[in-house]
Amino acid sequence: MKHLLVTGGLGFLGSNFLRWYHRRHRRVKLTNIDCLTYAAGIDNLGNLRSSPEYEEHRVDITNGRRLRSVWPDDPVTVVHFAAETHVDRSLQDAQPFVRTNILGMQNILEMARRNPVRRVIIISTDEVYGATPARGKFREDQPLAPTNPYAASKAGGDLLALAYRQTYNLPINILRSVNVYGPRQYPEKFIPLFITNALNGRELPLYGDGNQQRDWLWVEDFCEAVRRLVNAPQPEHPIYNISAGNQQRNRDVAKTIMRLTDCSPGQLRPVADRPGHDRRYALNDRHFRKEFSWRPKTPWPDGIRKVTAWYRANAAWVKKRQRQSYRSYYRKQYHWRFDE
Ligand SMILES: NC(=O)c1ccc[n+]([C@@H]2O[C@H](COP(=O)([O-])OP(=O)(O)OC[C@H]3O[C@@H](n4cnc5c(N)ncnc54)[C@H](O)[C@@H]3O)[C@@H](O)[C@H]2O)c1
Repeated sequence: MKHLLVTGGLGFLGSNFLRWYHRRHRRVKLTNIDCLTYAAGIDNLGNLRSSPEYEEHRVDITNGRRLRSVWPDDPVTVVHFAAETHVDRSLQDAQPFVRTNILGMQNILEMARRNPVRRVIIISTDEVYGATPARGKFREDQPLAPTNPYAASKAGGDLLALAYRQTYNLPINILRSVNVYGPRQYPEKFIPLFITNALNGRELPLYGDGNQQRDWLWVEDFCEAVRRLVNAPQPEHPIYNISAGNQQRNRDVAKTIMRLTDCSPGQLRPVADRPGHDRRYALNDRHFRKEFSWRPKTPWPDGIRKVTAWYRANAAWVKKRQRQSYRSYYRKQYHWRFDE
């Protein structure tokens, strides 16, 4: 493979993946299409931006004309990360989610239909299946039943991608991951929010009873899974789940972060739950593990320690993100909850 096109490569997962991939495949040409939303940062890529193999286009994927003008002529492997990604923001305003995650997806699929592509990998989420019952795990053939606008827009994108695969016989695969954690995640998401608030002596707003369960996957294990799928000549299945096998209750994650940051118990603040908050997500990823001999390598205690240390050591990175958009979102999202 000679040319990799990544969308959303200035965000959390896209930037971690580009760095991971470049370190292992120095000669592969990299094109990154990203419109730099509030969640992105050019500093996420470090030195990679000055590599001769790297090219970047500041383009909004909902703009089909602009997308066409920067799409490479040579056959590319596409990894499509770009999306609006924060469930809480989708509850405040779902429109950007529908635009980017569905219309933007359609533009990417059209480009893949009209240009030579080696493969298109769509990065998706466990949330498209809706809540998993207390026991059991969802397989890839589980019907989609999303319960919030973010998840619904991702499910819509997945269905479009499967339709293009079927109708136009395109080499498209969907990778549905559990929650990923690690460095450079925008600080409004659960783990970085709690770490940064704990370090800054602020309250940790825990939704509802805190018994919601999520499976947390270390970002480098996630990147390695994507790398294996990218490099596979002919994946057997259209859709793959990946999971960490590391189910944690939100309140236990909070307690662990509080211990690692020496945070005072008074900082933990139970607040009104997120509407439609799914209680549990759990995936069966037997297909992926078997076909790609992939296993997550980073145990949760190591990962959560490393990510806490990263946010502690990168206060300037955090400060840069906690500007206007973050502050107005935070006020809207939490102040009434704190006042209750
Ligand atoms: N983070 C997780 O735990 C997780 C888990 C499963 C799946 N995913 C999926 O992985 C992908 C990446 O997630 P993330 O956590 O890195 O998100 P993120 O919000 O950190 O990054 C998203 C990136 O997409 C870019 N982007 C957004 N809208 C765009 C548009 N219209 N045009 C061009 N670029 C645009 C942003 O600028 C940003 O760089 C998403 O598709 C998300 O649904 C994330």
